[in-house]
Amino acid sequence: NEIYLNGLGDERPGLPTDLTRLEGLAERRLSAGAFGYIAGSAGSEATARANRAAFDRLRIVPRMLRDVAVRDLAVEVLGTPMPAPVLLGPVGVQSIFHPDGEPATARAAAACGLTMVLSTAASYTIEEVAAANVTAGADGGEGGQGARWYQLYWPKDRELAVSFLGRARDAGYTTLVVTLDTVTLAWRPRDLDQAYLPFLRGIGVANYFSDPVFQKAVGGPVTDANRGAALMHWAANFGNPGLTWDDLAFLREHWDGPIALKGIQHPDDARRAVDAGMDGVIVSNHGGRQVDGAIASLDALPGVAEAVGDQATVLFDSGIRTGADVVKALALGAKAVLLGRPYCYGLALGGEAGVRHVLRCIQAELELTLALSGHTRPGDLSPEVLARPQ
Ligand code: FNR
Repeated sequence: NEIYLNGLGDERPGLPTDLTRLEGLAERRLSAGAFGYIAGSAGSEATARANRAAFDRLRIVPRMLRDVAVRDLAVEVLGTPMPAPVLLGPVGVQSIFHPDGEPATARAAAACGLTMVLSTAASYTIEEVAAANVTAGADGGEGGQGARWYQLYWPKDRELAVSFLGRARDAGYTTLVVTLDTVTLAWRPRDLDQAYLPFLRGIGVANYFSDPVFQKAVGGPVTDANRGAALMHWAANFGNPGLTWDDLAFLREHWDGPIALKGIQHPDDARRAVDAGMDGVIVSNHGGRQVDGAIASLDALPGVAEAVGDQATVLFDSGIRTGADVVKALALGAKAVLLGRPYCYGLALGGEAGVRHVLRCIQAELELTLALSGHTRPGDLSPEVLARPQ
């Protein structure tokens, strides 16, 4: 209604409302390296394509005459109230595609009331992003706080992990997302061909570089003099291939809020997460960026949802591009979804306003699709809403 009645106004930073067009626009705007970093996936990128194909195979079967006049998209996920079942998933080094980086994303998320998940590999610090995660007040000053979660790439150095968790807790991040599928970066041809590390050399990973434990290990604050050493230390610590299910107890000791495991694709792993006392699982294949040939994330969702039942919260990402995609994921058992590339393209193309545009479009399209298919709340959706034509 807003668009039809008021024209496009200032809110739309010249970006299309069909979010699937953003990738093509970003390709024209960004350097090949920056675009490859967002758009690229592992190997032949078969899993990234499979993620989308899985959505295309499923069809919503709309129902009529069910009084959809009043709609309510609100949900509560792991203790966080949300106006819609949509979060901004963790995406590292956002300065690669826009200098305003994660703080711009945090401001846009707060303006829309949606929860941002901050990556360990952020190009701004945990504290800087928290400070930006506020709404503008009526007087132009700061308004309310946004909701924020913290995503952990569990580093080899346990003292560093504990430091990250303490900083995140002190800065008001309420839920911990632990990404399990990236114990090492995958074979990503676009990044390899563009030599991705030079970007980091220019930009850095402030979350690490600002950390007192990290600085102790590299002999003090990171400057031009020890930048090379800092990057080597970062690379050596980033992933932790030795982790096992037994290590989760350590996280519980150091984080007293909810914990969700990201990257779950097998029902048995989902059961193990429940057995380990985790509060949530995020069905995800990292947007196809880790295991080329992996099962499409949407195809993994029903099995995980069934395995978990009501013992933990199931979230979903990888391949969401439209409001209809959100409906499909919710129908298959997700309580909410995380966006990856779509808001990155919004940031790349329009900074904070670009992210806001993406978030507003996806919420509006979700609400319309929900209503037009005969539903008023996310909780109304179930697998029966969908058909899989042969
Ligand atoms: C990611 N993703 C990611 N995940 C994570 O846990 N920590 C991270 O730092 C990053 N970084 C990152 C960078 C970029 C450029 C992309 C595109 C993705 C994965 C992300 O959280 C999410 O799982 C996928 O992006 C979801 O797939 P779609 O929506 O991009 O298809």
